[in-house]
Amino acid sequence: MGTAPLLDHFWLPFTPNRDFKAEPRLFARAEGVHYFTPEGRKLLDGSSGLFCVALGHGRREIADAVHQQLLALDYTPTFMRAHPKAFELATRVTGFTPPGLDRVFFANSGSEAVETAMKIALAYHRVRGEGQRTMFVSRERAYHGVNMGGVALSGLVKNRESFGAGVPGVVHMRHTHLPENRFTRGMPEKGGELADDLARLGALHGFANIAAVFLEPIAGSTGCLPPPRGYLERVRELCDEHGILLVFDEVITGWGRTGHNFAAQAFGVTPDLITMAKALTNGTQPMGAVAVKRAVHDAIVEQGPRHAPEFFHGYTYSAHPAACAAGLATLALFDAERSFEKVRALAPYFEERVFSLCDLATVADVRCYGLLAGVDVRTKSGQPGLAGYEVQKRLFDRGLHVKATGDSLLLAPAFVFERAQVDEMVTILREVLSAFV
Ligand SMILES: Cc1ncc(COP(=O)(O)O)c(C=O)c1O
Repeated sequence: MGTAPLLDHFWLPFTPNRDFKAEPRLFARAEGVHYFTPEGRKLLDGSSGLFCVALGHGRREIADAVHQQLLALDYTPTFMRAHPKAFELATRVTGFTPPGLDRVFFANSGSEAVETAMKIALAYHRVRGEGQRTMFVSRERAYHGVNMGGVALSGLVKNRESFGAGVPGVVHMRHTHLPENRFTRGMPEKGGELADDLARLGALHGFANIAAVFLEPIAGSTGCLPPPRGYLERVRELCDEHGILLVFDEVITGWGRTGHNFAAQAFGVTPDLITMAKALTNGTQPMGAVAVKRAVHDAIVEQGPRHAPEFFHGYTYSAHPAACAAGLATLALFDAERSFEKVRALAPYFEERVFSLCDLATVADVRCYGLLAGVDVRTKSGQPGLAGYEVQKRLFDRGLHVKATGDSLLLAPAFVFERAQVDEMVTILREVLSAFV
């Protein structure tokens, strides 16, 4: 009733479809740090789209590179064939990753990067004669995408409960969202000892059965949870001690969001694999990737007959030429505009302004690291997610696009934000949250 036929056929992901179609929120155009609705209403983009558009919207350098690429070479398989930009981009990526992670496998999304990393971990142990290592350790509140491996790794009930177990053999550490850390700026002091959950899980299931630990260094989708002090170091230590691979899922935290290339560098802890996506192409082309330590790559690739693939895995669009062109243009802009330095320069101001919301009765908690923040809206209805959902709709009406997960609002401004735009974002948040009872 009353739904325009135009809206009927597209089944929106992660969206209450009936409510959306009754009251659609469409974007028709984007420029800089703004979206525009079909009616021409301007909204500030407070979440870089979905953590993707780090350099701001409508970057001509990237659009031109993609356009030129599609005219020169629109598509080539990368199974037994390749194109120069795939090698070029892999080389450029390894200029940003921590030392040692210098082999890159391309996928088309964060979810695919996660599945790829799981399979690399399994294949690595198998070729080394440790095929019994088939278990994975993840964490409550984790988000590792939506494919079946990612569902199994997921620590968010709504992403799991309809789909069974995903893949078997995944166990979870406790999350680090502790009430005593409420309103902590940066890394919390409490909770480092929760890393020892890994020791407990190893003792229960057998360390020698665990292939890899998957962690978001800052849990992102669940509402920005920076790691407690000492936590990542302890996990790294336990992985080293027991021959377990450590995977950092940096789909949100990678590419400058923390003010460093990757969160691995921000926290000084080097994993064995890093999954990435989103800002790698500034959101302009679907692309994911896994950066892999040389030793892990070599163990897999330096074995088997020379006429057969060493790793039976890949996607039709792995290293798609247009995505590679977009990636190269994006990384060139990160360098030319010293984007990650800009993040470091703006982060303290951003933190100060976001934490100014603490006095509001409707704000239950605030967390922040780099240009990523989580603001929890107090739930009064007893229905989880209702407050967050209502608030993000009101923010949209008031001119601010923000991603909400449950009752957490996720702020992730583009690196090109000015202080005045941070102010505008916080002013709109204050207005809407104050009026929300
Ligand atoms: C840490 C993490 N891993 C994986 C994903 C999945 O990425 P995609 O939606 O591109 O499949 C996300 C998406 O937000 C993410 O934050």
